[in-house]
Amino acid sequence: MSATTRNSAPDAEDIRARKGGAPLVSLTAYTTPMAQLMDAHCDFVLVGDSVGMVLHGLPSTLGVTMEMMILHGKAVARGLSRAMLVIDMPFGSYEESPAQAFRNAARLMAETGAGAVKLEGGTRMAETIRFLVDRGIPVMAHVGLTPQSVNTLGGYRVQGRAAEAERVLADARAVAEAGAFSVVLEKVPARLADRITAEVPIPTIGIGASAGCDGQILVVDDMLGFFQAFRPKFVKRYAELGANAEAAIAEYAADVRARRFPAPEHVFADEPPKKEPPK
Ligand code: KIV
Repeated sequence: MSATTRNSAPDAEDIRARKGGAPLVSLTAYTTPMAQLMDAHCDFVLVGDSVGMVLHGLPSTLGVTMEMMILHGKAVARGLSRAMLVIDMPFGSYEESPAQAFRNAARLMAETGAGAVKLEGGTRMAETIRFLVDRGIPVMAHVGLTPQSVNTLGGYRVQGRAAEAERVLADARAVAEAGAFSVVLEKVPARLADRITAEVPIPTIGIGASAGCDGQILVVDDMLGFFQAFRPKFVKRYAELGANAEAAIAEYAADVRARRFPAPEHVFADEPPKKEPPK
């Protein structure tokens, strides 16, 4: 059964209908408190498999499991009442066959209450996307840099420069034709992103793409400055919460060592304080 029922949240068709309209806003989230903070501001929230790198310290997204996605998906669902919930299919959960993809996508949606799944790959995943959509599973596609294929793409490099542009365009066209309701364009040249946005009939969601996309997404830990391991050029830091948190932790450690914490106001007396008699 669905973990949550969120009748007022937009669905895949609402997102599709935003093509060419006001830009779609989205972020990743992995926990309930973060989902609560972004619910009023985002059209959809993605439980990205980036969770493996930003919360679990994995070197790539390849080690992310279905169980991790379900655990974080349930947590995010508890924090959303307004935004749509989209969940990533982890590496190895959908590439083998359309039937494998259906089994795992259905499980992700049923156990988390997500309104759609996202999966990586263009032309090569078109048959699977069609299979899922025909069976009631809305799919957000993801082309350009697809981090689960880091070992065959030559690293986390820009995709679609020079002669590669036609391949990325063909990927975006293929997923749209297969029935995806939107497509993430990751780390593609801005002019190519604009061309894809003009040519495909579904919303493009940019990350390292172009302000001309139909929407934007960022990894929340990147834009808040929590994730320190590396900082892609496409990340705008809207806050430095990682540095602030470390300064707070250092201050706490110094207070404890100097016996400044806990102070009198943080400890309890033998007797409860007397209530003021009513006047
Ligand atoms: O896993 C992720 O966080 C993503 C995006 C940021 C698009 O796929």
